[in-house]
Amino acid sequence: MKINILTLFPEMFSSLTDHSIEKRALEAKLIDIKTYNIRDYSTDKHSSVDDTPFGGGAGMVMKPQPIFDCFDDIIKNSDSKKRVNVYMSPRGKTISESYLKSFLEFDEINILCGHYEGVDQRVIDTYIDREVSIGDYVLTGGELAAMVLIDATIRFIPGVLGNKNSAMEESFSNGLLEHDHYTRPYDFRGQKVPDVLLSGNHKNIDQFRKQQQIDITNARRPDLLIKDEIVE
Ligand code: ADE
Repeated sequence: MKINILTLFPEMFSSLTDHSIEKRALEAKLIDIKTYNIRDYSTDKHSSVDDTPFGGGAGMVMKPQPIFDCFDDIIKNSDSKKRVNVYMSPRGKTISESYLKSFLEFDEINILCGHYEGVDQRVIDTYIDREVSIGDYVLTGGELAAMVLIDATIRFIPGVLGNKNSAMEESFSNGLLEHDHYTRPYDFRGQKVPDVLLSGNHKNIDQFRKQQQIDITNARRPDLLIKDEIVE
């Protein structure tokens, strides 16, 4: 999967690409992440990327020319068979586990990160297939939202997570929140691990964990129990 990011702050993405799972996935060529600095595409003599809004109002709007040229450059040089162009925006569809999985059918995801009051609507009308939100709150820019989308999506790509089972076992994967986890020591400052986890009886352990998932989901997110079908 190739991920191109159109941004005014490409350096922010090193916090994603230089560490942990993403770093390993990039090295293993399971994903390819490339940033494009929108400012580099401005034909304006001051390399400006924004302007005041028609109709008045607060703030600035990212102007169409640099973003059009940036998208055209990416698309012209791409051999993608199935591309999706995304704009990170609180107006978009909020990501969920199932919405994330729908990104796996694409071999190229181009993600536009907005700033200021947003981007000129003609950019969205011309290029954008999906407006995507990470929640009902407003960030100062789309970069952090794009990193959330990338991080949460690539975990589903086979081989990206070391342990191939772990994406299947965690919260939401069967419609429930995850059970508790423990590691050594058995007794830490007087707090002991539930004995069933040391029993070696996997049927009992599975039962214990499943019940814990149901109890935790019931207490914290009862809406999930009503909304989603529980997968065995
Ligand atoms: N840009 C600003 N706020 C955002 C949000 N909540 N989701 C996605 N992109 C955004």
